[in-house]
Amino acid sequence: MTTATQGGTEPGSAATGRERVLTGVKPTGNLHLGNYFGAIKPAIELSHAPGNEVIFMCVDWHGLTNRAHMKESGTYTYSLLATYLALGFRLEGNAIILQSDFPQILEVAWMLACVTNLGLLERAHAYKDAIQSGKDPTCGLFYYPVLMASDILTFDAAIVPVGRDQLQHLEYAADMAGYFNALAGTEVFRKPKPVVQQVPLLVGTDGQRKMGKSYNDIPLFGPAKDIEKRIKGITTDARGLDDPKDPDTCAVFQILSSFAREERIHDMRERLLRGTGYGYGHAKNDLIDAHRETFGAHQEAYEHYLRSPDEMRRLLEPGRLRATELAKTVCSRARDALGLKTLKTLKPS
Ligand code: AMP
Ligand code: TRP
Repeated sequence: MTTATQGGTEPGSAATGRERVLTGVKPTGNLHLGNYFGAIKPAIELSHAPGNEVIFMCVDWHGLTNRAHMKESGTYTYSLLATYLALGFRLEGNAIILQSDFPQILEVAWMLACVTNLGLLERAHAYKDAIQSGKDPTCGLFYYPVLMASDILTFDAAIVPVGRDQLQHLEYAADMAGYFNALAGTEVFRKPKPVVQQVPLLVGTDGQRKMGKSYNDIPLFGPAKDIEKRIKGITTDARGLDDPKDPDTCAVFQILSSFAREERIHDMRERLLRGTGYGYGHAKNDLIDAHRETFGAHQEAYEHYLRSPDEMRRLLEPGRLRATELAKTVCSRARDALGLKTLKTLKPS
């Protein structure tokens, strides 16, 4: 990872001295190897690094922004949480939280929206793309960057690791923090530091497009037969059993490289280059073995969590409580800066 831009204020969580890292994923489909490679694995690694406090947020409200798929967000939330737990996200000192548990995010989002010019949101890539492709965007899609800025600012996040496509959202979050602070005359929100992940997009089973949901993906968990079928269906070129093959253009190899052990990656590379007696069918069998080795070992834990909502709740509760304290503190800071009152705190100003 490389730091793309530096935010204005000193990062870090005052209580622990560790840098607070916030990541978010929408629960909008079955998780696949592309998600693992680009989002899950880096977040789990960060959760094991002693200098970080990682908050992983399942951003279910963001998942609502596609009208045709509104019911998916609730459906996939549970498996998303179970996946992070099963694959070893370290909860000690870190947290896995659910966005819609935090009404403060919506309140802060509204305050941010009220200091943000319409033009900024009209220039947002996702919104412009939707308009250009003749879609009929909802207010939710238009508001998406405000909600995301609020995710980040409500938890005083110092570092937000994202793919390049999310950089604009990060810049908007820093801009909105700046607008609010300028208006309030005090530093209410910390500007986050975007960290652009240097992870290339993983190709899908069609060997053409990036691995996306359902049409060209390989799931992390599920019946072994389904996973084998997906892997056997990977598109390859017409090179025969004994022809030397190019690992750099071979989807089977690229998919293997996204998660397997170094030794396996090295082995397949050598065999493809040599060619003799090693066809794409062999490579696919090796990929099936590697998948089983990496994810099969956690399949049981995954299924266990899926059957144990109470256990999951118990495990996630300490993180939710810490995050709630944090969100309340930041939200009150913003309310106080604007002089907002509640009936309990009502007094003449
Ligand atoms: P999505 O829900 O498709 O937006 O994916 C959630 C996150 O998974 C993204 O922000 C990326 O970090 C990661 N991701 C999804 N697909 C891929 C892919 N094909 N290659 C690498 N990372 C991916
Ligand atoms: N927009 C992000 C994506 O599509 C998801 C997201 C929502 C997020 N809120 C966030 C990512 C806060 C990081 C931090 O991938």
